Amino acid sequence: MNVLVTGGAGYIGSHTCVELIEAGHTPIVVDNLCNSSAKSLDRVKTITGKQIMFYEGDVRDEALLEKIFMENELDCVIHFAGLKAVGESVAIPLSYYDNNLCSTMTLCRVMAKHGVKKIVFSSSATVYSGDNEMPLKETSKTGNCTNPYGWTKYMCEQILRDIAKADAQWSVVLLRYFNPVGAHASGMIGEHPNGIPNNLMPFISQTAIGKREKLSVFGNDYDTHDGTGVRDYIHVVDLAKGHVAAIGYAEGNKGEAVFNLGTGTGYSVLDMVKAFETANEIKVPYVIAPRRPGDLATCYADPAKSREVLGWQATLDQTDMCRDTWHWQSKNPNGYDD
Ligand code: NAD
Ligand code: UD1
Repeated sequence: MNVLVTGGAGYIGSHTCVELIEAGHTPIVVDNLCNSSAKSLDRVKTITGKQIMFYEGDVRDEALLEKIFMENELDCVIHFAGLKAVGESVAIPLSYYDNNLCSTMTLCRVMAKHGVKKIVFSSSATVYSGDNEMPLKETSKTGNCTNPYGWTKYMCEQILRDIAKADAQWSVVLLRYFNPVGAHASGMIGEHPNGIPNNLMPFISQTAIGKREKLSVFGNDYDTHDGTGVRDYIHVVDLAKGHVAAIGYAEGNKGEAVFNLGTGTGYSVLDMVKAFETANEIKVPYVIAPRRPGDLATCYADPAKSREVLGWQATLDQTDMCRDTWHWQSKNPNGYDD
């Protein structure tokens, strides 16, 4: 299939381009590079041997989308483009609502006009409300988001659900990611956070390489096996393969469907630190710090529906996640700036 990949130069998008190509599909990327580098697509070419058609620009630019849809026979869209920093979304909510909602609405308008009615959307486990029992199922309660970023995902899900309800030709697949980590095994593409990382794994790897003095472990008094927060970390290559499965599902099914993309296994912060140290034979200095506001004790997926309906499940383990994160970090200490 010819797949328009919005945000395809980014972390998850670039890995998905590799998996799409390896599965015989043709990705076409649109990205405004506001949080990425076009070098990621050069690296995808080195990995796969395929040059990706790339349009630099904003998904909210309707004229640009018109041009892309005119110039390409598209079969479906994977919509990654969006802003994703939780703290920043609290500081500049309007930018988040504008970018994440307007990009989705502009994209769907142009898709409908061109009769391309299959979309896979990057949602997040953050749409689940904090008072659910674990593991989280697709039917667990959503809403009560704690920040504007989470609300944009919640609202985009609703917009897409309503589009599928209004026109039975649409196929809408909402993918709720748990905690994506790791990098392609080649060490050529990976996550390149701007400034000080907020997320655990990039912080661990930047500490290991000496860019950060030590990791602050946010709280050791949670009701978990060692008192630190438990999450469902998923290797980005497994996540990328989940998108290949999702476009296959969209090809054969109409209406709206939602899937968790997680492993179903929760690891604590200290589990991840120890696994990283063991896998890479390197120390990660840390201190115990106060809890981070808004954090939950535990969050992990029930991935049964994805396994049963999409035929997808994660295959890479915690050691793979730690080894591949370090391989990317040590080969590219400054990400794509090297
Ligand atoms: P990323 O920032 O690396 O990728 C997003 C890409 O979209 C970037 O390349 C950016 O330049 C581009 N972009 C942003 N706004 C755009 C616009 N208006 N027009 C064109 N391009 C635009 O982030 P990622 O980690 O690869 O995340 C991809 C998607 O998955 C996002 O929607 C994110 O919210 C979602 N998600 C990510 C995580 C995670 O932990 N990484 C978890 C859950 C959901
Ligand atoms: C965060 C976002 C979530 C987003 C997800 C993407 C918040 C509240 N939630 O989730 O919306 O979808 O990233 O992956 O920001 N930790 C430390 N020290 C650090 C960093 C993190 O101890 O320096 C701990 C956290 O307290 C948490 C765990 O590590 O227990 C994972 O944190 P993080 O990687 O930020 O992910 P989430 O909080 O799960």
